[in-house]
Amino acid sequence: MRVKIIGSAAGGGFPQWNCNYRLSRAARTCMPGVQSRTQSSVAASADGTGWVLFNASPDIRQQIAQTPDLQPAADAPRRSTSIRAVVLTNADVDHVAGLLSLRERQPFAIYATAQVLATLKTNSIFNVLDPAIVPRRLLAPTQEMAICGADGHPTGVVVGSFPVPGKVALYLEQRGDPDADFSSGTGDTIGVRISGADGLGAVFYVPGCARIDAALRERLAGAACLLFDGTFYTDDEMITAGVGQKTGARMGHIAMSGEAGSIAALADVKIGRRIFIHVNNTNPVLDESSAEHAAVKAADWEVAADGMEMEF
Ligand code: MLT
Ligand code: MN
Repeated sequence: MRVKIIGSAAGGGFPQWNCNYRLSRAARTCMPGVQSRTQSSVAASADGTGWVLFNASPDIRQQIAQTPDLQPAADAPRRSTSIRAVVLTNADVDHVAGLLSLRERQPFAIYATAQVLATLKTNSIFNVLDPAIVPRRLLAPTQEMAICGADGHPTGVVVGSFPVPGKVALYLEQRGDPDADFSSGTGDTIGVRISGADGLGAVFYVPGCARIDAALRERLAGAACLLFDGTFYTDDEMITAGVGQKTGARMGHIAMSGEAGSIAALADVKIGRRIFIHVNNTNPVLDESSAEHAAVKAADWEVAADGMEMEF
């Protein structure tokens, strides 16, 4: 099983187009130790030929351009792709907008929860992907599913999905009652367990998660690798950076640091390799010379960068 991180930043990417915070400025000027990153997406392959994407980010065109494995093979037909399927972990813009770039009547399959499939159906722009060519399949919660291409042929990648505390996409929030939306655990946001057909060497990808409870800790125990929500280092980071009014909790993202943070909550869970992904452009860990980056490393976590690859 090969797993590639093709995008490691949160929504907006790094640098974000309109962000003038010190970190985006540092990325723009290529300051040493501050790497630019595209938006959250992972690719997995069991055979090295066909690939399953986990989320389709608005940067997908650039991500394919940077990843020869995702480009048409030299001897392939005039229209071709190695992307067999796209699995969606929620309906956030940073995870679904890239589907629009995959139009051109190219067969592949989409897998998502009932909620996310309903969102795609409601937004008619996604009809650029004709369901007769790009089938949309239900990712049944908690079941292990063999991911197949549009032709029904198994890719060899097996995915188990599970709801995590999270929120509906920003554009689906009910203005009257945001509380009802941002900490649900009902499948608006899921995590996935990615493995080969033998079930071995599982990698977990959980790019959005509001809370870590006992059930999640138990589920993650024994993972070969965890790619986890690294949006914020502190809960009030957007506010102190002067770029927004929302806390991480309000956005459905647990912070890395603090007593209730993800580093502490997962400290005693046995995990082979732990990597923060979906890192927001306000997160100080993006600067490798920062104290926060050092603290994350000292806690045995890595910070994902685009192009990181693992083999299991
Ligand atoms: C998130 O992860 O909270 C969203 O991607 C935010 C957004 O939609 O910009
Ligand atoms: Mn996001």
